[in-house]
Amino acid sequence: MAKLLILYDSQTGNTEKMAEAVAEGAKSVAVVEVSVKYYARPEELAEVSAIFLGSPTYYHSVTLPIKQILEEAAKANVQLKGKVGAAFGSYGWSGEAPRQILEILKNRFGMQMVEPALTVLYTPNEAQLKECRNLGKTVADKITSV
Ligand SMILES: Cc1cc2nc3c(=O)[nH]c(=O)nc-3n(C[C@H](O)[C@H](O)[C@H](O)COP(=O)(O)O)c2cc1C
Repeated sequence: MAKLLILYDSQTGNTEKMAEAVAEGAKSVAVVEVSVKYYARPEELAEVSAIFLGSPTYYHSVTLPIKQILEEAAKANVQLKGKVGAAFGSYGWSGEAPRQILEILKNRFGMQMVEPALTVLYTPNEAQLKECRNLGKTVADKITSV
């Protein structure tokens, strides 16, 4: 069964709501095994077909736990080339983090990213949660059709 991993950080629950909606959408595709976590070792990243990485923007940047995941993966030289990816996150005014994640997964790791990154101003509303569910389903469909 194709595996899809959703990794995220959230300090006040907004990005978490997005992650849960992404998971709900991905799980609607029955033949995909979906995991939702705060952290994964480089080997775990190598085992899945698709990775969602979510971070809120704090101080114009990706949060430390998410940076750590990226740094460990880079150090271990984990092969993510060609895997499907998507970036998401809540923000307050500038919202750099999801775009930074997208750029790193695409340019450093060679992942096939769904663009643009999904960003939500503060708490996601129902329409934005629907977008998150749609993105989850889109990526899950992508990895089952290959
Ligand atoms: C100390 C602090 C710094 C922040 N820095 C930024 C920032 O640089 N750019 C931005 O867009 N939002 C910034 N925010 C707003 C958060 O991104 C926003 O509250 C977001 O909804 C938090 O998501 P979370 O609930 O998933 O942690 C900041 C918030 C706090 C409390």
